[in-house]
Amino acid sequence: MKEFDPVAYEKMVKSYHDQDRPTDWFDSIYTDAEGDHEAVFWADLEPSPYLLKWLKNNPLQCAGRKAIIIGCGVGDDAEALSEAGYEVTAFDISPEAIRLCRNRYPASKVDYLVADLFDYPSPWSENFDLVYECNTIQVLPGKYRIQARDAMISLLATQGHILVSCRSRLTGEQEDDIPLPLDRKEIDGFVQRSLKEESFEAYDDTQDPPVPHFFAVYKKYL
Ligand SMILES: C[S@@+](CC[C@H](N)C(=O)[O-])C[C@H]1O[C@@H](n2cnc3c(N)ncnc32)[C@H](O)[C@@H]1O
Repeated sequence: MKEFDPVAYEKMVKSYHDQDRPTDWFDSIYTDAEGDHEAVFWADLEPSPYLLKWLKNNPLQCAGRKAIIIGCGVGDDAEALSEAGYEVTAFDISPEAIRLCRNRYPASKVDYLVADLFDYPSPWSENFDLVYECNTIQVLPGKYRIQARDAMISLLATQGHILVSCRSRLTGEQEDDIPLPLDRKEIDGFVQRSLKEESFEAYDDTQDPPVPHFFAVYKKYL
C-alpha cells in the first residue's frame, strides 16, 4: 500500500489542474488504498457530525424522500442519510470508490453508482429533496467549481435542500492551497434565483492544528 506523501500529492493534483484534467486523478487515490477503505487518506470513516445534527433537527415527515450524495467517497454520509429514512443515490466519478462502498456495505439500501457530476443521467434533474456535498467543490479548480455548484443546484426539486460541507478560508488567503478551500463570497454563490440560505456555520474541525470549515444549508422555494 502506498504511503501518503502530502508534497507529492499536491504536486500531482496541480499537474492535473495545469493539464486541464481536473477529475482524472481521483480514482488513483482509491486504487492506492488497494481495497481497504480505511486506507483512503481523506476518509473520516464516520458521518459528518454537522450532517447528523441537521438530520436530527430536521426529521423526515414522510417516506419516499430522495437524497443524492455528490462524490460519496467511501460512503459514511450516504449510509447516515439512508439510516435517517431517505432513499439515497450516492455517486462518485471514481469506480474504485464505488467498489469500496459496495464491498463495505453489502446489505446497504443505498444505490451506489459511478457517475460524473458534470454529465449526470438526465432523469436526475430536479429530482432530489436533498442534495449533499462534502469536500468535492474544494478538490476542483477554477471554472469547474462554478459548474459543480450549478450542477448540484440543478439536481434539486422544489422545496428541497442543498447541504454544503467544505473547508473554508478568509478571502485573500490560502488561494493556492490544495485542497482549495472556499471563501464566504464563493459559497454565497449558492444563494441565487429561488435558493435561499437557511443556515450557515463556520467552525474549526478537531484536527491539530484545527482546519476551518463551513456547513451551509440552502432551500429551493420554487
Ligand atoms: C475529497 S473527496 C470527498 C469524498 C467524501 N465526500 C468525503 O467527504 O470523504 C472528493 C470526492 O469527489 C469525487 N468527485 C470529484 N469530481 C467528481 C465529479 N465530477 N463527479 C462525481 N464525483 C466527483 C472524487 O472522486 C472524490 O471521491
